[in-house]
Order: sequence, then C-alpha cells, then structure tokens
Amino acid sequence: MATYISRNPANFADVVTEVPLATSAEIIAAAQAAHDAQPGWAAVPAPARGRVIAEVGRLFEANKEALARLVTREMGKVYAEALGDVQEVIDTCDFFIGEGRRMYGQTVPSEMPDKQLFTFRVPVGTAMIITAGNFPAAVPSWYIVPALVTGNTVVWKPAEQTSAIAQAMAEIFYAGGVPRDVLKVVLADGPSTYDGLEASLQKGLIQKVGFTGSTEVGRRLSELAARHLQSPCLELGGKNPMVVMPDANIDLVVEGALFAGFGTAGQRCTSLGTLWVHRDVYDVVRERYVHAVENAIVGDPFGDVLYGPMIDEKYLENHDKHLGLIQDHQTVYGSSSVGRITSTNPRRGFLGDPDSGWFAHPTIVDGVRPGDALYSTETFGPLVTMGVFDTLDEAIELSNGHGYGLSCAIYTENPQAVWRYRQGVSAGMMSVNNSTSGAEAHLPFGGNGLSGNGSRQSGIWVLDQFTRWQSMNWDYSGKLQKAQMDVVELPFDPGFRL
Ligand code: UN1
Repeated sequence: MATYISRNPANFADVVTEVPLATSAEIIAAAQAAHDAQPGWAAVPAPARGRVIAEVGRLFEANKEALARLVTREMGKVYAEALGDVQEVIDTCDFFIGEGRRMYGQTVPSEMPDKQLFTFRVPVGTAMIITAGNFPAAVPSWYIVPALVTGNTVVWKPAEQTSAIAQAMAEIFYAGGVPRDVLKVVLADGPSTYDGLEASLQKGLIQKVGFTGSTEVGRRLSELAARHLQSPCLELGGKNPMVVMPDANIDLVVEGALFAGFGTAGQRCTSLGTLWVHRDVYDVVRERYVHAVENAIVGDPFGDVLYGPMIDEKYLENHDKHLGLIQDHQTVYGSSSVGRITSTNPRRGFLGDPDSGWFAHPTIVDGVRPGDALYSTETFGPLVTMGVFDTLDEAIELSNGHGYGLSCAIYTENPQAVWRYRQGVSAGMMSVNNSTSGAEAHLPFGGNGLSGNGSRQSGIWVLDQFTRWQSMNWDYSGKLQKAQMDVVELPFDPGFRL
C-alpha cells in the first residue's frame, strides 16, 4: 500500500502525518457510498441542512487557531494568512447558513388560464471535488459548503501535501452534523484520482466535477467530464496583471505588489503575474519595489515574515524551472541570489534555518515583453515580472494577450481609466487600488480563457454549479390546453392611428 509522508515544509524533520493513499478502486467505493447517501441527504429539509452548516461554521470558529497552526505547519503559509484561510471557511459558512431557508424558486404566470408555472432548484447529485494545496481550508469550503447545503453529497480529494489539514477539516464537518457518507475524503495521487474518477463517471456515480489547480490538469478533467456530458466547475491558473497608471499612489502600489507577488510565496492563483508600469513612473516604481522586495524578511512562517517556504519540493522545482526561462534582455532583482535559499546560497535577514525547509529567494524579472516565455507562463512561486507600457489600450492588450483571465488590478485615481480598463480586460475579477489576490468570499470567484470555463464559485453564483433548474407546469383547468396554440388573445385594432 502506498503511503504519503506529509512533512512541515519549513522543517523537514517534523513529520505532520503519514497517510495511506487510496487506490482507484477505493475512490470508486467512496463515490458509491456518497452516491448512495445522496437521496437521503437531499430528503433532509434544506433548513435543517442549513443548520448543519451553521454548526460547522461555529466549530471552524472555535477551532480557528488550532486549524490555522496546522495550516502553517503543514503547508507553510505565514500564520496571519493561515488565520485568513480558515476565516474564509467561516465566512463561507456564514454566507450559506441562510441558503437552507432560501433555495428560492419562482412562480411564473402561464400563457393559459387555470395553469401555473414554477421553477425549483434541485441538487445535481454527487460531486467529486479536487483541490490544490495552496488554500487547503478556504478553497475546499467554497465547493463543499454550497454543495452540501443544496443537497449534494461530496467526495473530496485534497492535495496530498495537506492531508492532515484535510482530515482535520473533515472531522469538523462530521462534528457539525454532516454524515460520514455525505462527505467522503480520499487521499490519493493524481493517476489513481483520474482513474477512479473516470470509472465513477462511467458508473454514473458522479454528476459534478470541481477542480482547483493547473490549467493543464483542468483541461484533462474538462475533457473527461465532457465525455459524460458534464460541465465541471474549474478554477485554474492565472497570469494576473497589475497596471500602474502615471497618477497612481506609489506607496499603495509597492505595498500591494509586495503582498500580491510574494504573499503565500506567490503560490496563489490570484498572485501577481506581471507588474505593468506606465513609462512616466516606471523607474521610480521599479526602484521602490526592488527596495521593498530586497528588504523583506523571508523565513519561518510562524515569525514576522513576508513569506515562508514553498508547499513542497515539487513547487520549488517548478520555481527553478521558471528561473530557467529568464532571457538576456531581462534583468533580475529582488535578492542576492535566485532559487533555493540555503546556508550556502543565503538571503539577508532570513529568519530561521534555511537548510531545513523549501525556501526560495524572491525574484523580480524586469523588462518582460509579449512573446517572452515569462510573459505567458504562470509561475506560481516568488517570481514577479515587470514591464512597461505607454497607453491604457496597450496595458489592456498586455493584460489579455497571454490568454489567462483570472484576476487583475489597476492603480489610478482616474475613474475613466478604471472604467475603460474594466471594459477591456478579460479577467473575471478586478481590483482597483488593491492587490490582485485577496478576493472576498461572497463575490463570484473564477476566470475566463486559460483560467477556467466561466464557472464561478462563491456567493449566490456558485448555486448554479451545485443545483439545476427544474421547471413544473400545473394545469388545473380540467382539459388539455396546448401551449403556443390554445393561448388567450385579446382583440386589438392594428389600423389605429392618432
Ligand atoms: C487560490 O489561490 O486558489 O483571492 C484562491 C485570494 C484568496 C483565494 C485564492 N481569497 O487570494
């Protein structure tokens, strides 16, 4: 039996948990159990399901610090961000508590007398949710909470790197009243997950796939789901632009770009990709940004640092691969070196022991242009590219040209620039004078193009992912009234003129 050893990425000696990995047969068995439990769960009155979510939310609140400590320990984001990760679960529960008492449908008039039309939201069935390690608490809850409250059952496959967090989260859901077969957690590697999902789809056990992760895997899962006539909920990569207009508040830009680019070690799908700066303020922005990044403290995520380790070695290797894409016409800033921080490749002011974790130097690559590999590659690490523009139209083109469309930001005091940028940018989410990351839990979250298939999570918008509209007409006239034929028409005078 294959096992996975989950280690603290800031301290390899600390084994957080060791878990057996599920085979595809075990994934199918989990899907079967969740599928069998679904009609019973859907039969629980929706307000009672909402009460369960209320209890779950309270338990996440009561366990916020304990879970956040586990998030920092197992995944490596700084403790303040880990608290935010858990807070987003609480916010999501808060938002959906009331949905149990809504799940509104409509009453709609009919063309004919003595007939009434209605719409109902019905659960989709059983969802397979596959999530990444970078937001081990918040992002799974964006799927699980609305799926459960609307009467679906869930098989959740978290990232192996965050196994202990996933198990702790599941226990909180169970303690809040979610039956064990209504939420199944499977820890598995990618190939077993794919095979288990494919077989479960073939057997009709899964009606919805939810996935947060890379565009490449999202495309494969989308093809798989489409073969079963399903449309998955996809939250994929980004190359999120931040546009700095000449009138921008430079203090805000530097602070925003520091957090957006290097918070969570750049491992957010909403992390800053390229900082696009107007030529008039380019030099001053670069100088101040480079200064801020060079002086930021990296290290122990329980300490007062900008960012901690990469999630695991794989993420660091990926970062190293992206460093290989730097071209001769570009200039590197941000640290005394690039790549992994070690005692022989040190970072000034590093907090802790770099050799015991997967830490990486912050890197700014200046002088990026369309056509460069780094223009269009999502880097998902502490690497920010910078480039220049002259006109807002050019900034819009640069923001869209790589095909990603998740998040973006513009810094300006000019409302006209804001509105023109909003109209032209392809991203699903836009910030004005704020970071590309840090979306609130009750706005639609999702992207377009390479960032997703248009599905949206969070708020009221995610309800369309986990419910389908069912319409009903009820004819109480006692005779067959034919739509479009037996309709009531009132007399009128087509020749009337004043
Ligand atoms: C992600 O990286 O997949 O907007 C989610 C943000 C967070 C969520 C990021 N609230 O940065």
